Amino acid sequence: MQLLQLQHVDDAALAREAAAGLLRAQAQVAPKLFYDALGARLFSAITELDEYYPTRTEAAIFARHGAAIAAEALRIAGPAPPLIDLGAGDCAKAARLFPLLRPGRYVAVDIAVEFLREALLRLQAAHPGLAMLGVGLDFSQRLVLAPHITGDAPALVFYPGSSLGNFAPDDALRLLREARALARGGALLIGIDLVKPRAVLEAAYDDALGVTAAFNLNVLRNLNRRLGADFEPRQWRHVAFYDAMHARIEMHLEAREALAVRWRGGDERRFAAGERIHTENSHKWTPEGFAALLREAGFSSPAHWCDERRWFSVFLAAA
Ligand code: AVJ
Repeated sequence: MQLLQLQHVDDAALAREAAAGLLRAQAQVAPKLFYDALGARLFSAITELDEYYPTRTEAAIFARHGAAIAAEALRIAGPAPPLIDLGAGDCAKAARLFPLLRPGRYVAVDIAVEFLREALLRLQAAHPGLAMLGVGLDFSQRLVLAPHITGDAPALVFYPGSSLGNFAPDDALRLLREARALARGGALLIGIDLVKPRAVLEAAYDDALGVTAAFNLNVLRNLNRRLGADFEPRQWRHVAFYDAMHARIEMHLEAREALAVRWRGGDERRFAAGERIHTENSHKWTPEGFAALLREAGFSSPAHWCDERRWFSVFLAAA
């Protein structure tokens, strides 16, 4: 097992980016700021909520159609393909595919390389014959991996969980083009959340227990640590709604009262009561719309598998 840190997550640059976002007329921060150690745990709790259907629906699609999906992937890429896992985290979703895909090597890519280490050590013990690499990379900026990392054989790029939803359509297209270059001759296997009734979507991002609210508010704790800011989470409220025009959930934090926030370096931002910080977009697709995006990115023969309610889909497309 080999761990590579391709791009050190630059704390100073991340703090500058966050400060610049807070100072914009419409304040915003990037969703990657959700995922400190507590944020990762809160997201994991979200996936267990009754209202949050994506994780369990995707798992059910793989449980039911995994053999067919894997057979089709191997028909396109050939036997023993390198499996490149984007946003691998605990590597559990990819590991469930090992018996079906029998990959020739496993490349786990994540912004948090420290979290990958433990997951890969555990996996390596269970699969001693499989070459494994952990790569620390913030691919929201740019997704490129050298051939000595991916190997020469046509690869399977795996991007589950509908994480692509965090990207606006233009940025999603850019990332898909980079994924296609990476898979060259192989295929992309990706989980995509689908457009559905507003009430279902809004409940999934504003659950009864308030776990998503805590996940959203945790950004403020993370900003306090990273920026030396003095956010008071009790002064903020979680807001989530579906914007049908853009086919996306938007998450915001709304100031409950007029307030000011200060951080390191003497910067300050005032918020009026009701003013918001935009923390996340989660784009939803129709199957037709996402197939068209894949084609625009250069993929061919997109196929997809859905659950019975057509709430979530797993797409496979030739690179
Ligand atoms: C990890 C980006 C797929 O958009 O559903 C869950 C993040 N935000 N609840 C999503 C999230 C609020 C999640 N993704």
